[in-house]
Amino acid sequence: MKAVVIRRYGAAEVLQSEEVEQPKIEPTQLLIKVRASSVNPIDWKIRQGMLSLITGSKFPKILGFDVAGEVVAVGSGVMRFKAGDAIYGSTSFSGGGYAEFAAVLENLVAHKPTNLSYEEAATVPLAALTALQALRDQGNIQTGQTVLINGAAGGVGIFAVQIAKALGAVVTGVSSTKNLDLVKSLGANRVIDYKQQDFAQDTAQYDIIFDAVGKRSLSQTKTVLKPNGIYITTLPSPEVFLESALTAFLPGQKAKFIIEKPNTQDLVYLKELIEAGKIRPVIDRTYPLQELAAAHSYSESERAVGKIAIAVSN
Ligand SMILES: NC(=O)c1ccc[n+]([C@@H]2O[C@H](COP(=O)([O-])OP(=O)(O)OC[C@H]3O[C@@H](n4cnc5c(N)ncnc54)[C@H](OP(=O)(O)O)[C@@H]3O)[C@@H](O)[C@H]2O)c1
Repeated sequence: MKAVVIRRYGAAEVLQSEEVEQPKIEPTQLLIKVRASSVNPIDWKIRQGMLSLITGSKFPKILGFDVAGEVVAVGSGVMRFKAGDAIYGSTSFSGGGYAEFAAVLENLVAHKPTNLSYEEAATVPLAALTALQALRDQGNIQTGQTVLINGAAGGVGIFAVQIAKALGAVVTGVSSTKNLDLVKSLGANRVIDYKQQDFAQDTAQYDIIFDAVGKRSLSQTKTVLKPNGIYITTLPSPEVFLESALTAFLPGQKAKFIIEKPNTQDLVYLKELIEAGKIRPVIDRTYPLQELAAAHSYSESERAVGKIAIAVSN
């Protein structure tokens, strides 16, 4: 099968198209024909070797955590899927989405939302699960709460704005000038242009600040957080670890970070929100698999609006 592999860590050029063996499935896995994948910053962070302590030095590696496609075969222990089903979901931390076929665990995928194309569906899993789990599990978001999303135009941010709205929050989205209209169109009650104004110097106060782009910290935002408010980030820096440990057992404001955990139940929940018209993906660009290096470079620019889809096969 065709796949884009890396044989060493490095710049986008290390992504090379190759013919490789089709993966074999374990009893709890499905073999899927991958129709589409997407780019998440974790892909190029791994490619650059930033996580090599975890990802190791065994090559070749196929990256790509998001997949949407058709089930071709199922392992002997698979209960919920059969050949021909249209699914979307996550590969495990070993990746594998940037290939014509992928072996995925049954408990990391769900049936594809019926109103999305494969390309649209492939942009949902990692980013939307992160937004959902941050707001619901770390933030314990409640109807009527005030929530600020920093990085509201990014892959995680576009879902965070919509999920917070769907869960009944009053949402403020922070983005650059050119993306304010998009953030409003996703349902934000208020938008802040960070080129004009620092939200941390505002007079408003929030129950939750979700820093989807991981640019700030609790100490930088505490004056705009309510006394029992929660700051949540996607980037657990040493400062955030310290703030999180220091605030965990004390009353008052908390600092938390999210580590996304793919699972079927949350994917089914997202599918229901999507089919009910409460959330939708936003695709900035779609690249064919052969142009994955260009897609990675675009993601590395940190200027993508919403998601970058990868068309893998027809
Ligand atoms: N911990 C986890 O489990 C987890 C899961 C998913 C993602 N992440 C991490 O979360 C981060 C965001 O991921 P993503 O997929 O959303 O990235 P992304 O799609 O690449 O984010 C791009 C967006 O960031 C916005 N942006 C850039 N600088 C900004 C700033 N200073 N203030 C506000 N917005 C800014 C840009 O909007 P403007 O052009 O309007 O500035 C752009 O739309 C990445 O570092 C990723 O690795 C972590």
